[in-house]
Amino acid sequence: MSKKTFVGPHDLTPIQFKDLSVILGQKIILDKINCKIKSNSITAVLGPNGAGKSIFLQTINGLFSIQSGRLNFNLMEINQEIRKQQAMVFQNPVLLRRTVIANLQFISNLRNKESNRLLKKILSKVGLEGYEKKPARLLSGGEKQRLSMARALIINPNLLLLDEPTANLDPYSLKLIEDLVLEENSIGKTIIFTTHDMSQAKRLATDVIFLNKGKVLEQTISKTFFKSPKTLEAQKYINGEILI
Ligand SMILES: Nc1ncnc2c1ncn2[C@@H]1O[C@H](COP(=O)(O)OP(=O)(O)OP(=O)(O)O)[C@@H](O)[C@H]1O
Ligand SMILES: [Mg+2]
Repeated sequence: MSKKTFVGPHDLTPIQFKDLSVILGQKIILDKINCKIKSNSITAVLGPNGAGKSIFLQTINGLFSIQSGRLNFNLMEINQEIRKQQAMVFQNPVLLRRTVIANLQFISNLRNKESNRLLKKILSKVGLEGYEKKPARLLSGGEKQRLSMARALIINPNLLLLDEPTANLDPYSLKLIEDLVLEENSIGKTIIFTTHDMSQAKRLATDVIFLNKGKVLEQTISKTFFKSPKTLEAQKYINGEILI
């Protein structure tokens, strides 16, 4: 693969994994991953508990060192500029022990110093209008998750990494977040998310990567995956059967 040096604002995709392995402790968590995430796609990373989905997202986010293989963003290796164009919503969001609005201001001050008006607009997008002064630690699980989504949106990332972003949400909030995902995608963002909600994956995803025990067993467009999964593992997973 040739290397590029220039990093423009829309330069992160395609994202390519080439024989990539991540080992934590003594355990191979991601095992020779080969896959490609297309520009402006919405990719669902699916698989059972412990398959490696969160580590997969966090590896893209530059949080783990790669033992072997490569990860390229539009032919470039990860660097600070590339990391700055990504935003990640973690499975277990970590918030500052400050108010809701202070959590947003903190991120905004590090980056683009958005006006409070815009921060409030983003809060209302995630259904948290009127929550500005509430201490973040007092939010419910679902509210924390939505605040975490708001924090991600503030930096206007080209790539959104969402780790089970609706796991704790009620149906109204779930729809709110799904609509936001589609809206962000419609304005050119590439989105990679994980979920155990197969209906959600069908509603949102253009592409699917199916992981099991740290390996990519399938990568295909979403319709094909749900209509005719190739592997027995994926068939079982979709049908809610146990994978051994
Ligand atoms: N820091 C770590 N050190 C060692 N092993 C880890 C670490 N983090 C995760 N693991 C292991 O890596 C494997 C993959 O974990 P990961 O969190 O990516 O799974 P997942 O697919 O996101 O599962 P879930 O659906 O439960 O969220 C698991 O076996 C887990 O125990
Ligand atoms: Mg996970």
